[in-house]
Amino acid sequence: MTHVSPARKQSEKALYGGTGSRRITVRDIAAAKERAEKWPMLTAYDAMTASVFDQAGIPVLLVGDSMGNCHLGYESTVPVTMDEVALLSAAVVRGTRRALVVGDLPFGSYQEGPVQALRNATRLVKEAGVGAVKLEGGERSAHQIELLVQSGIPVMAHIGLTPQSVNAYGGYPVQGRGEEAAQQLLRDAKAVQDAGAFAVVLELVPAELAAEVTRSLQIATVGIGAGPDCDAQVLVWTDMAGMTEGRVPRFVKSYAQLRQGLGDAARAFAEDVVGGAYPAEEHSFH
Ligand code: KIV
Repeated sequence: MTHVSPARKQSEKALYGGTGSRRITVRDIAAAKERAEKWPMLTAYDAMTASVFDQAGIPVLLVGDSMGNCHLGYESTVPVTMDEVALLSAAVVRGTRRALVVGDLPFGSYQEGPVQALRNATRLVKEAGVGAVKLEGGERSAHQIELLVQSGIPVMAHIGLTPQSVNAYGGYPVQGRGEEAAQQLLRDAKAVQDAGAFAVVLELVPAELAAEVTRSLQIATVGIGAGPDCDAQVLVWTDMAGMTEGRVPRFVKSYAQLRQGLGDAARAFAEDVVGGAYPAEEHSFH
């Protein structure tokens, strides 16, 4: 019998850096919480970018409704439709082999109640092939989460700043500041866990409060602008890679300057075409 050291067993299982090649499931996410293993999540909106992240070992990809701002040219996530999320989720699933793909339920696709949520979440699972869905709201979305989970659809919840409510907030303010707001966030976190969510995104909340939520939950917390103590961290990929035009939120760290690089490539191509340097002999057929 081949001897496998405990250290190797651990690395096989790791969500990031693990050697396993089958698709990540929500059970792997639960096991990572037990091991206190931190993990990364990125958004993705197309097959090609998703395949880059999948091959880089990112274990969870979110087809976020941030596609509204980052991919579809809307001013917010509010106009995003089910058809758009279904189309792009299917592309991300096709571009990946290992990542757990989470499809985001857009504004208006679950607020009417659990039955509407189930109909739309089922569509993402059946048509697009996602392994889980995400929806916004804590106590207010608990009934929706409960029915989806009972129906066999894993749910990632999303509390703190919920961008689909931008018109009610009048912007994107930090949430959970002050005793009352902090208590509400803790109640929201408990409500989504009790409803059966396997993880919860904490967006734009004070780091100390996010740490308290993370300690108090058995499910994974995924922070964005929520300090270093969450179980996982998520960034919108266009922010993470320096593709976004203009200012990005303060919590973003950019790991590349793709916007500059892509613009430079386009200008170099244009100059070659205008100056006659492209196509050269090696690009031509005779
Ligand atoms: O839509 C999205 O990309 C999100 C993440 C920012 C968590 O909800």
